Amino acid sequence: MPVKFPIPPLSVVPPRLSQRSPRTTLIFTRMASNAAVAFGLKDNSLIKTQGFIGGKWLDASDGATISVTNPANGEEIGTIPEMGLKETKEAINTASTAFKMWKNTTAKERHDLIMKLYTLMKENTEDLAKIITLENGKTLTEATGEVVYSSSFLEWFAEEAVRTYGEHIPSPAPGVRNVTIMQPVGVCAILTPWNFPSAMITRKLGAALAAGCTAVVKPPPETPFSALALTELARRAGFPDGVINVVTTFKNVGEVGKELCENGVVRKVTFTGSTTVAKLLYKMSSSTMKKVSFEAGGNSPFIIFDDANIDDAVDGAILCKFRSSGQTCVCANRIYVHSSVYAEFASRLAARVAQFKVGSGMDKESTHGPLIHDRAVQKVEGHITDALSKGAQVLVGGKRINGPGSFFEPTVLADVPPNVRLANEETFGPVAALIKFDTEEEVLQLANNTDYGLAGYFYSRDVGRVWRVAEALEVGMVGTNTGYISQAPIPFGGVKESGLGREGAHGIKEYMQTKLIAFGL
Ligand code: SIN
Repeated sequence: MPVKFPIPPLSVVPPRLSQRSPRTTLIFTRMASNAAVAFGLKDNSLIKTQGFIGGKWLDASDGATISVTNPANGEEIGTIPEMGLKETKEAINTASTAFKMWKNTTAKERHDLIMKLYTLMKENTEDLAKIITLENGKTLTEATGEVVYSSSFLEWFAEEAVRTYGEHIPSPAPGVRNVTIMQPVGVCAILTPWNFPSAMITRKLGAALAAGCTAVVKPPPETPFSALALTELARRAGFPDGVINVVTTFKNVGEVGKELCENGVVRKVTFTGSTTVAKLLYKMSSSTMKKVSFEAGGNSPFIIFDDANIDDAVDGAILCKFRSSGQTCVCANRIYVHSSVYAEFASRLAARVAQFKVGSGMDKESTHGPLIHDRAVQKVEGHITDALSKGAQVLVGGKRINGPGSFFEPTVLADVPPNVRLANEETFGPVAALIKFDTEEEVLQLANNTDYGLAGYFYSRDVGRVWRVAEALEVGMVGTNTGYISQAPIPFGGVKESGLGREGAHGIKEYMQTKLIAFGL
């Protein structure tokens, strides 16, 4: 457990942040009673069903709403506003006004406020986890883990805020002294995915706030309530109006995304999601030469060499492949197993996967929840059908689970040939595809034969091979003898078409620019 950071009493927070005008209670207590009942939290006022602009909870200007459903049963858990261009422009303008004040706060002030939000997240872990489970489907255990992971980004970036050092650069010219300072880029557009409804927000927003930027957040329509609950906690922590704004949208995402990318006031766009969408946002953002960082798709190779510890490799594969039912960008998509250990690895993995219990994430017995929606189930089915048509065999699972909810059987496929769809496309589902190989050279060629380059994993006890393979894999992140790499203080990000920039370690720099000040003596 991370150590709790001592938070100074509110009286220590400088007056300009703590002495803010009280808001009407009406604005902050509005919630759809159906949503509050559906979630059944200890603190139901964490359920917000409106967007948040300039410190106010707001409906869409035309009153349109989006229905949000529980993937475990297809039932509506609440509604959010279908916002559009008008609200997006308003959010950008309010973030721009707030930036004039926020950029002049001290790093220590920002540190203290972010740590306050961190503490509030810790205090509300149970409720925040429940929200994640009900809107995303992952089990309560996984959701609780996500809240811990999510809050760790706040702790990390609070501590980064006070260390955004500049430098002194000796000048070749006499009588000149060069120094650099780090300054916030400005208003940031933050677009986040549904697979980590909480952590992908704090990973970006934590960095932006710590750097001194203000933000317009666009959460996914599938899982908006985690984003809105975090916003409510940020409001309670005392973030000034306009620093954090949230625009919810679904059908209008085209015009909202275009405005966020093309409006010249926005100086940075960050996105986690598919490579296709990242490319579109990149293109649109180029019109105003914005700073960008994208964590796009992945298709991670997971390699088991003949000298691997097979017990460890099975544990690692289960964690890497089946975390969040296979719906993570860094999960193994292609499992390459050396022919001499193939049969042993396949039978041990299949035996473990056969024991999984798929069900509602709220049920304590469930080890794995549903996929996010039926489109996800269809994609998984498509990848399995393709692999079977090319000679693969099902060892476990292989089918959708009928009934309400978008459930799919955890699946292990054997004898998968290298030329299947899932070797080139992100499956985003619970399918472990086992592909046989014979030599290090062959497997490296197969592993790198993709446009993706997010993460790669391998198991080997040969120290020479560990260095060789880690260096040769064309990815941004390598796990060797581990199937789990995700932590706040690592440089998270990919190469090739898996993205640009790094989050976590060095992540704050993505929200800052370096300015030179040359002094003549
Ligand atoms: C992602 O799936 O986009 C993030 C996964 C992680 O942080 O572990």
